[in-house]
Amino acid sequence: MVERVESGIKGFDKLVNGGIPKNSLVIVKGGPGTGKTTFCLQFLVKGIENGEKCVMLTTEEGNGKLFRIAKNFGWELEKWKKEKKLAILSYDGENIRKILNELKRVVKSTKASRVVIDSLSTISVYATAYVNIGELSIKDVIDETTVFSSPIIGDEIRRRSMHRIMRELERLDATILMTSEDLDYDKISDFLCDGLIKLDMEAISSALQRTLRVVKMRGTNMDGSVRDMEITNKGIVVY
Ligand SMILES: Nc1ncnc2c1ncn2[C@@H]1O[C@H](COP(=O)(O)OP(=O)(O)O)[C@@H](O)[C@H]1O
Ligand SMILES: [Mg+2]
Repeated sequence: MVERVESGIKGFDKLVNGGIPKNSLVIVKGGPGTGKTTFCLQFLVKGIENGEKCVMLTTEEGNGKLFRIAKNFGWELEKWKKEKKLAILSYDGENIRKILNELKRVVKSTKASRVVIDSLSTISVYATAYVNIGELSIKDVIDETTVFSSPIIGDEIRRRSMHRIMRELERLDATILMTSEDLDYDKISDFLCDGLIKLDMEAISSALQRTLRVVKMRGTNMDGSVRDMEITNKGIVVY
Protein backbone atom coordinates (compact mmCIF):
# COMPACT_ATOMS: atom_id res chain seq x y z
CA MET A 1 0.00 0.00 0.00
CA VAL A 2 1.30 3.41 -0.97
CA GLU A 3 1.25 5.84 1.96
CA ARG A 4 -0.46 9.04 0.89
CA VAL A 5 -0.29 12.66 1.91
CA GLU A 6 -3.40 14.86 1.94
CA SER A 7 -2.68 17.84 -0.29
CA GLY A 8 -5.06 20.20 1.49
CA ILE A 9 -6.28 21.44 -1.90
CA LYS A 10 -10.02 20.96 -2.11
CA GLY A 11 -10.91 18.55 -4.92
CA PHE A 12 -7.31 17.61 -5.72
CA ASP A 13 -6.70 14.34 -3.88
CA LYS A 14 -9.33 12.41 -5.81
CA LEU A 15 -7.31 13.12 -8.99
CA VAL A 16 -4.40 11.13 -7.55
CA ASN A 17 -6.36 8.26 -6.04
CA GLY A 18 -6.55 9.71 -2.54
CA GLY A 19 -3.41 11.77 -2.10
CA ILE A 20 0.16 12.43 -3.17
CA PRO A 21 2.36 9.35 -2.57
CA LYS A 22 4.43 10.08 0.54
CA ASN A 23 7.97 11.45 0.03
CA SER A 24 7.34 12.30 -3.62
CA LEU A 25 9.19 15.13 -5.31
CA VAL A 26 6.43 17.11 -7.04
CA ILE A 27 6.72 20.09 -9.36
CA VAL A 28 3.90 22.64 -9.56
CA LYS A 29 4.39 24.33 -12.89
CA GLY A 30 2.79 27.34 -14.51
CA GLY A 31 3.18 30.92 -15.65
CA PRO A 32 3.02 33.95 -13.35
CA GLY A 33 -0.22 34.32 -11.38
CA THR A 34 -1.45 30.78 -12.06
CA GLY A 35 -1.53 29.92 -8.35
CA LYS A 36 1.73 28.05 -7.74
CA THR A 37 2.61 29.82 -4.50
CA THR A 38 -0.98 29.51 -3.26
CA PHE A 39 -1.04 25.76 -4.04
CA CYS A 40 2.18 25.22 -2.09
CA LEU A 41 1.12 27.34 0.88
CA GLN A 42 -2.17 25.44 1.06
CA PHE A 43 -0.21 22.17 1.14
CA LEU A 44 1.80 23.49 4.10
CA VAL A 45 -1.36 24.70 5.87
CA LYS A 46 -2.72 21.13 5.75
CA GLY A 47 0.52 19.90 7.29
CA ILE A 48 0.33 22.47 10.08
CA GLU A 49 -3.31 21.49 10.76
CA ASN A 50 -2.19 17.84 11.01
CA GLY A 51 0.55 18.78 13.48
CA GLU A 52 3.32 18.08 10.97
CA LYS A 53 6.48 20.20 10.85
CA CYS A 54 6.92 22.18 7.63
CA VAL A 55 9.76 23.96 5.86
CA MET A 56 9.51 26.56 3.13
CA LEU A 57 12.45 27.75 1.04
CA THR A 58 11.45 30.92 -0.73
CA THR A 59 13.35 32.66 -3.50
CA GLU A 60 10.58 34.83 -4.83
CA GLU A 61 8.92 36.97 -2.26
CA GLY A 62 10.43 38.68 0.75
CA ASN A 63 8.99 37.21 3.92
CA GLY A 64 6.74 40.24 4.45
CA LYS A 65 5.15 39.81 1.05
CA LEU A 66 4.77 36.06 1.61
CA PHE A 67 3.08 36.72 4.96
CA ARG A 68 0.65 39.13 3.28
CA ILE A 69 -0.18 36.68 0.47
CA ALA A 70 -0.91 34.01 3.08
CA LYS A 71 -2.89 36.34 5.36
CA ASN A 72 -5.19 37.12 2.43
CA PHE A 73 -6.32 33.48 2.71
CA GLY A 74 -6.41 33.56 6.51
CA TRP A 75 -3.17 31.58 6.87
CA GLU A 76 -1.03 32.74 9.80
CA LEU A 77 2.49 32.01 8.52
CA GLU A 78 4.13 34.53 10.82
CA LYS A 79 2.45 33.03 13.88
CA TRP A 80 3.35 29.47 12.81
CA LYS A 81 6.92 30.56 12.24
CA LYS A 82 7.08 31.98 15.79
CA GLU A 83 5.56 28.78 17.14
CA LYS A 84 8.22 26.80 15.24
CA LYS A 85 5.65 24.81 13.31
CA LEU A 86 7.03 26.26 10.12
CA ALA A 87 10.60 27.16 9.21
CA ILE A 88 11.07 29.73 6.44
CA LEU A 89 14.39 29.97 4.62
CA SER A 90 15.11 32.73 2.13
CA TYR A 91 17.46 32.41 -0.81
CA ASP A 92 18.77 35.49 -2.58
CA GLY A 93 20.83 33.77 -5.25
CA GLU A 94 24.14 33.85 -3.42
CA ASN A 95 25.49 30.47 -2.40
CA ILE A 96 23.54 27.51 -3.71
CA ARG A 97 25.45 24.88 -1.72
CA LYS A 98 25.02 26.82 1.50
CA ILE A 99 21.25 27.21 1.16
CA LEU A 100 20.69 23.58 0.14
CA ASN A 101 22.81 22.35 3.02
CA GLU A 102 20.85 24.63 5.34
CA LEU A 103 17.59 23.24 3.92
CA LYS A 104 18.72 19.65 4.49
CA ARG A 105 19.88 20.48 8.01
CA VAL A 106 16.60 22.19 8.98
CA VAL A 107 14.43 19.44 7.46
CA LYS A 108 16.36 16.78 9.37
CA SER A 109 16.56 18.64 12.68
CA THR A 110 12.86 19.58 12.72
CA LYS A 111 11.83 16.18 11.29
CA ALA A 112 9.74 18.10 8.77
CA SER A 113 7.46 15.97 6.63
CA ARG A 114 6.39 18.72 4.20
CA VAL A 115 8.81 20.91 2.28
CA VAL A 116 8.15 23.61 -0.30
CA ILE A 117 10.71 25.17 -2.63
CA ASP A 118 9.34 28.32 -4.29
CA SER A 119 10.83 28.48 -6.86
CA LEU A 120 12.91 25.73 -8.36
CA SER A 121 13.35 27.94 -11.45
CA THR A 122 15.40 30.40 -9.42
CA ILE A 123 17.42 27.52 -7.96
CA SER A 124 18.12 26.26 -11.48
CA VAL A 125 19.43 29.67 -12.53
CA TYR A 126 22.16 29.29 -9.92
CA ALA A 127 22.40 25.50 -10.08
CA THR A 128 25.54 25.40 -12.18
CA ALA A 129 27.52 26.46 -9.15
CA TYR A 130 26.53 23.13 -7.57
CA VAL A 131 28.72 21.03 -9.83
CA ASN A 132 32.45 21.52 -9.63
CA ILE A 133 33.45 22.19 -13.24
CA GLY A 134 36.72 20.37 -12.55
CA GLU A 135 34.71 17.16 -12.13
CA LEU A 136 33.53 17.34 -15.73
CA SER A 137 35.92 16.46 -18.48
CA ILE A 138 35.02 17.68 -21.94
CA LYS A 139 35.01 14.05 -23.13
CA ASP A 140 32.40 13.39 -20.49
CA VAL A 141 30.09 16.08 -21.78
CA ILE A 142 30.34 15.73 -25.55
CA ASP A 143 31.13 12.82 -27.83
CA GLU A 144 33.59 12.87 -30.73
CA THR A 145 30.93 13.90 -33.21
CA THR A 146 29.78 16.94 -31.24
CA VAL A 147 31.22 20.25 -32.29
CA PHE A 148 32.59 22.11 -29.29
CA SER A 149 30.22 24.85 -28.26
CA SER A 150 29.94 26.56 -24.92
CA PRO A 151 26.11 26.62 -24.72
CA ILE A 152 26.11 22.83 -24.98
CA ILE A 153 28.58 22.60 -22.13
CA GLY A 154 26.55 25.12 -20.10
CA ASP A 155 23.32 23.17 -20.60
CA GLU A 156 25.00 19.93 -19.68
CA ILE A 157 26.42 21.39 -16.50
CA ARG A 158 23.00 22.76 -15.57
CA ARG A 159 21.40 19.39 -16.34
CA ARG A 160 23.86 17.57 -14.14
CA SER A 161 23.58 20.12 -11.37
CA MET A 162 19.78 19.84 -11.32
CA HIS A 163 20.08 16.08 -11.40
CA ARG A 164 22.34 16.11 -8.38
CA ILE A 165 20.20 18.62 -6.48
CA MET A 166 17.03 16.60 -7.10
CA ARG A 167 18.68 13.32 -6.09
CA GLU A 168 19.77 14.92 -2.82
CA LEU A 169 16.29 16.31 -2.14
CA GLU A 170 14.88 12.87 -2.86
CA ARG A 171 16.86 11.46 0.05
CA LEU A 172 15.05 13.70 2.52
CA ASP A 173 12.30 11.92 4.42
CA ALA A 174 9.66 14.46 3.32
CA THR A 175 7.09 15.15 0.64
CA ILE A 176 8.44 18.03 -1.43
CA LEU A 177 6.56 20.52 -3.61
CA MET A 178 8.58 22.76 -5.90
CA THR A 179 7.27 25.54 -8.11
CA SER A 180 8.52 26.06 -11.62
CA GLU A 181 7.87 28.76 -14.18
CA ASP A 182 7.44 27.27 -17.62
CA LEU A 183 10.96 28.11 -18.80
CA ASP A 184 13.13 26.27 -21.29
CA TYR A 185 16.20 25.96 -19.12
CA ASP A 186 14.65 23.93 -16.33
CA LYS A 187 12.78 21.35 -18.43
CA ILE A 188 15.14 18.68 -17.14
CA SER A 189 13.49 18.72 -13.72
CA ASP A 190 10.16 17.68 -15.34
CA PHE A 191 11.76 14.34 -16.15
CA LEU A 192 13.50 13.92 -12.82
CA CYS A 193 10.52 14.62 -10.55
CA ASP A 194 7.96 12.05 -9.36
CA GLY A 195 4.97 14.28 -9.92
CA LEU A 196 4.14 17.15 -12.22
CA ILE A 197 1.10 19.40 -11.80
CA LYS A 198 0.44 22.00 -14.45
CA LEU A 199 -1.50 25.18 -13.62
CA ASP A 200 -2.86 27.39 -16.35
CA MET A 201 -5.20 30.30 -16.92
CA GLU A 202 -6.97 31.80 -19.87
CA ALA A 203 -9.07 34.91 -20.22
CA ILE A 204 -12.35 33.94 -21.86
CA SER A 205 -14.17 37.19 -22.76
CA SER A 206 -14.58 38.89 -19.39
CA ALA A 207 -13.97 35.81 -17.23
CA LEU A 208 -10.72 34.22 -16.11
CA GLN A 209 -10.68 30.43 -16.46
CA ARG A 210 -8.10 28.69 -14.31
CA THR A 211 -7.20 25.04 -14.94
CA LEU A 212 -5.12 22.32 -13.30
CA ARG A 213 -3.81 19.12 -14.82
CA VAL A 214 -1.88 16.29 -13.21
CA VAL A 215 0.68 15.48 -15.90
CA LYS A 216 2.35 12.70 -13.94
CA MET A 217 2.35 11.16 -10.47
CA ARG A 218 4.55 8.14 -9.97
CA GLY A 219 3.25 5.32 -7.84
CA THR A 220 -0.47 5.94 -8.23
CA ASN A 221 -3.38 5.88 -10.64
CA MET A 222 -4.34 9.39 -11.66
CA ASP A 223 -6.84 11.43 -13.56
CA GLY A 224 -4.77 13.42 -16.04
CA SER A 225 -7.63 15.41 -17.52
CA VAL A 226 -7.75 19.21 -17.52
CA ARG A 227 -9.79 20.29 -14.47
CA ASP A 228 -11.30 23.68 -13.81
CA MET A 229 -9.94 25.39 -10.76
CA GLU A 230 -10.68 28.52 -8.76
CA ILE A 231 -8.75 30.64 -6.33
CA THR A 232 -11.19 31.69 -3.60
CA ASN A 233 -10.51 33.56 -0.37
CA LYS A 234 -9.98 30.17 1.28
CA GLY A 235 -7.49 29.01 -1.32
CA ILE A 236 -7.58 26.77 -4.38
CA VAL A 237 -10.60 24.63 -5.23
CA VAL A 238 -10.38 22.02 -8.04
CA TYR A 239 -13.52 20.84 -9.80
N1 LIG B 1 -8.69 35.92 -2.25
C1 LIG B 1 -8.48 35.68 -3.55
N2 LIG B 1 -9.50 35.39 -4.34
C2 LIG B 1 -9.32 35.12 -5.64
N3 LIG B 1 -8.14 35.14 -6.24
C3 LIG B 1 -7.07 35.42 -5.50
C4 LIG B 1 -7.18 35.70 -4.13
N4 LIG B 1 -5.96 35.94 -3.67
C5 LIG B 1 -5.12 35.80 -4.71
N5 LIG B 1 -5.80 35.50 -5.81
C6 LIG B 1 -5.25 35.26 -7.14
O1 LIG B 1 -4.13 34.42 -7.05
C7 LIG B 1 -3.12 34.90 -7.90
C8 LIG B 1 -1.74 34.70 -7.31
O2 LIG B 1 -1.46 33.38 -7.25
P1 LIG B 1 0.01 32.94 -6.86
O3 LIG B 1 -0.17 31.70 -6.09
O4 LIG B 1 0.79 34.03 -6.22
O5 LIG B 1 0.57 32.65 -8.31
P2 LIG B 1 2.03 32.26 -8.80
O6 LIG B 1 2.80 31.83 -7.60
O7 LIG B 1 1.79 31.16 -9.78
O8 LIG B 1 2.58 33.46 -9.46
C9 LIG B 1 -3.33 36.37 -7.99
O9 LIG B 1 -2.90 36.82 -9.24
C10 LIG B 1 -4.78 36.53 -7.77
O10 LIG B 1 -5.41 36.61 -9.04
MG1 LIG C 1 4.61 32.60 -6.83
